[in-house]
Amino acid sequence: MPEETERLAADETGITRAAEILAGGQLVAFPTETVYGLGADARNGRAVAGIFEAKGRPSFNPLITHVSDVDRAREIARFPEAALPFIGNGWPAGLTLAVPLRKRSGISSLVTAGQSTVALRVPVSPVAQDLLKAFGGPIAAPSANPSGRISPTTADHVMAGLGGRIAAVLDGGMASAGLESTIIGFRDKQPVVLREGVFVVPDDLPRITMPADASGRVESPGQLASHYAPSGLVRMNVRVAAPGEWHLGFGDIRGNASLSRDGDLREAASRLFALFHEADAEGVERIAVAPIPDHDLGRAINDRLRRAAATRP
Ligand code: TXA
Ligand code: MG
Repeated sequence: MPEETERLAADETGITRAAEILAGGQLVAFPTETVYGLGADARNGRAVAGIFEAKGRPSFNPLITHVSDVDRAREIARFPEAALPFIGNGWPAGLTLAVPLRKRSGISSLVTAGQSTVALRVPVSPVAQDLLKAFGGPIAAPSANPSGRISPTTADHVMAGLGGRIAAVLDGGMASAGLESTIIGFRDKQPVVLREGVFVVPDDLPRITMPADASGRVESPGQLASHYAPSGLVRMNVRVAAPGEWHLGFGDIRGNASLSRDGDLREAASRLFALFHEADAEGVERIAVAPIPDHDLGRAINDRLRRAAATRP
C-alpha cells in the first residue's frame, strides 16, 4: 500500500514522532552505527509482518531485535556463560548475539521465525539509543533495504529503496561504520561467528558463516549469496581493471573511486555500500574491486565482496 514516507530530523521532535509511529504499529527506518534499520515494535506481530511486506523478504528469515541496554536484553533472553565477555566488552557495539529466548519474552514469533534463539543487539548510535528510550521497548529491525539489495548507510538510500512503502525515516546522517554487525551464536557453550561484521573478533574463533555460493535454508539467512549485491557484476582482487569496468580502488590502487586512499580498513568499510549505491545510481554494469587485506575489518569487507561477486540466482 503506497503511503507518504515522512522524513524526520534526528532531533527531539523527530524522535518523539518516530516513537509514536512505532507505538502505532507502523514502520520507521532509523540510523544505527552499522547501517540503517527498518524498525517495528518487536512485540507486535502485525507490525513485524509489515517489515517482511515492505522489504519483500522471505518470511523464514529471522530479524535482529534492538534494545537500549543489557538489562533489557536479559528480560528477553538468557545469556550463556560464554556470552558474558561479549556483553561486558562488546555492548554497545556492532555486535549481535544469538541467545536462547525466554518463554514469556513478549517477542513476536515472527521476529525469531519460530526459532528458540533471538538475535539481540545494543546499538552505539546516539540516535538509535534515543529512539529506543523514547519508544521504551524492543525494536525489531533488519537492514532497511528491499530484500536482496545492499544495506542503506544514509536516509537517501532508504528513501530510494523503500520510499512510499514505510511510514517514516529518521535522518541521522551517514552510518559511521557502514557494514552490518557481527553475529555470534553459541554451540556446546562456545562462541561461533555466524556472520562477519564490524565488530572484530579473534581469527581463531570458529566460523560457521555460509560460503558465498550457498543457497537454501540456513541458520543465518543474511549469509545467502548475493544478499549484498549491487546491480552491476562484481569482480574481486583486481589490480588493473579491464576495459569497461568501474574500478573501486584501495590504498595505492586509485581506481575510479576509492574505498580508502590511505588503505584504512575502517574508512573502506564505511564507504563500501555507499559506493555500491553510487555505482547503482550511475547504472554501472561491471565493478572491479582492488584487493583488500584479509585481516581485522578486511575479513568482513571481503565477505561482503565475495557475496556480491557470487553468481546471481
Ligand atoms: O548491523 C546490523 O546487524 C543491521 C542493523 C539494522 O542492526 N541489521 C541487519 O539485519 O543487518 P538483517 O536482517 O539484514 O540481518 C539479520 C541477520 C540475518 O542474517 C538473520 O538471519 C540473522 O540476523 N538472525 C536473526 N535472528 C537470528 C538467530 N536467532 N540466529 C541466527 N541468526 C539470526
Ligand atoms: Mg540485510
